[in-house]
Amino acid sequence: MLKEMIVASLAKHCSLTEQQIYELLEFPPNEQLGDVAFPCFALSKTLKQSPILIAEQLSESVQSELWTADAAGPYLNFKFNRAEVIKQFANEHREKGLRFPKLGSGKRVIIDMSSPNIAKPFGIGHLRSTMIGNALYHLLGKVGYEPVNVNHLGDWGTQFGKMIAAYLHWGDPSQKSEDPIKAYLELYVRFHEEAKLHPELEDEAREWFVKLEAGDPEAHRYWHLFIDDSLAAFNQLYDRLGVSFDHYLGESFYNDKMDAVVEQLAQLELLEESDGAMVVRLDEEGLTPCIIKKSDGSSIYATRDLATALYRHEQMGGDELLYVVGAEQSLHFRQLFLVLERMGFDWAKQCKHIPFGLMLMDGQKMSTRRGKVVFLEDVLDEASATALRIIDEKNPSLTDKGEVAEAVGVGAVIFGDLLHSRLHEVNFSLEDIVNFEGETGPYVQYTYARTQSLLRKASLQSEAAGTAAISDFSFVSSDYAWQLAKALMRYPDALTQAAQRYEPSVVAHYLIELAQTFNRFYHHEKIITGNTAEQGAKLELVYMTTECLEDGLQMLGVKALKEM
Ligand code: ARG
Repeated sequence: MLKEMIVASLAKHCSLTEQQIYELLEFPPNEQLGDVAFPCFALSKTLKQSPILIAEQLSESVQSELWTADAAGPYLNFKFNRAEVIKQFANEHREKGLRFPKLGSGKRVIIDMSSPNIAKPFGIGHLRSTMIGNALYHLLGKVGYEPVNVNHLGDWGTQFGKMIAAYLHWGDPSQKSEDPIKAYLELYVRFHEEAKLHPELEDEAREWFVKLEAGDPEAHRYWHLFIDDSLAAFNQLYDRLGVSFDHYLGESFYNDKMDAVVEQLAQLELLEESDGAMVVRLDEEGLTPCIIKKSDGSSIYATRDLATALYRHEQMGGDELLYVVGAEQSLHFRQLFLVLERMGFDWAKQCKHIPFGLMLMDGQKMSTRRGKVVFLEDVLDEASATALRIIDEKNPSLTDKGEVAEAVGVGAVIFGDLLHSRLHEVNFSLEDIVNFEGETGPYVQYTYARTQSLLRKASLQSEAAGTAAISDFSFVSSDYAWQLAKALMRYPDALTQAAQRYEPSVVAHYLIELAQTFNRFYHHEKIITGNTAEQGAKLELVYMTTECLEDGLQMLGVKALKEM
């Protein structure tokens, strides 16, 4: 925002466009030199003058009540009148609220996120897709896109043949399990163990899947049971995480839409036979072929994803299709997008895989087949119990402790995930993340609660406190106040970066920095002073901080708590 303020004034006095000037402006490494610097080298070519001279000339013409501009060699250094800038910023904020960059111009973005598999546990690995997707969903909405999120449930595939076979052998339909997903997982693991000794089980499973594909009512009954039980469990988790979906459209939704795609591929002569299977060759790109139909004629994941992409573009009106899915599926998405391109779809260029690194526990990837799974539910329970212990110690008289602890524990897990750059592996340790100090969600939440408590105190003291009209901003020109104001002004930049790189961690890091800057201001300056003019100005900074923290936390899916 500081740069924007200068741009217009400079543009009036030199031959560059506002955009060019904006890109040239720098933040000097040493703040003593100035808040923003304009290097005059670029102008010297067109003006055929030395940059030193240009800097001197400009320094005379671009003065304002908001800054002083001093030439220092080839640079023009701007030093802001802190009180005046903060006053303008606070007034604008009172009038228009937080500023959001406008990047999307209404483009509809379909976000494929979460997408767990039916009858399998929602591991903490799925948390990443859910929370990164959720953050992008909110973020893109704020910066002018029209986001639509879809849960592409894994509700189809040969594994359902295995599940039915296992359920019939060892499941106990008469006894409704308390935790059906755990029971299904045990069945799945048992199937793979027993099939090693009794390979005929695999044939049985295949037959069940063929029946399922053929619409056999019995097979469908079991399949529906798995879906209902799984969705009930998933929805409980989504509630806890505060995540909702515009659409639940699982893979099975595309069963009747695949023939058309296969037909289209055949007409375009893109299909080739390979070992009895039908594939699209991607040799030119150096990739393995994309399998469209297996040798037994059944469709697979990729075929369903082709039909899905077409549906999202044509029926759902998606201008951009995002897939928030682990990096281990990168090849799949490269193949998918290439096949779409080969089919002649221009919009294939707007399909993007948003990969992320693994979630590790004790350095091991969680795998369902080995049955060594960390259930997200258990992680959330433990996080919330840890939070409760800390609150019992720090603030034993707090009301609604249980609720607050749940929000802090769950928030800690979400923030701990989102703080990592998407592609980095996350090694999970509850101890580190459920901590009121350090770079954690609870630290940001705690800072937010502190701003809330300050505002409450002030309004108790005087109804009128905190209104810009009676504030004297000369009281907020210390380095601490100025650093805080500058951090607040950077919010739109953080959102721009996060949106352009599909990287929620930029927002998480920004919030940590804002919280730290605020806390430095809080520890060094008395805010509730009793002097209305002084307190009023300081509270403007507190008020903007509270709004910014709240917005950022909610964007990431972390609850902002008034007290904790
Ligand atoms: N169900 C898949 C899995 O858990 C993720 C699906 C991702 N979305 C997609 N359109 N392929 O691995």
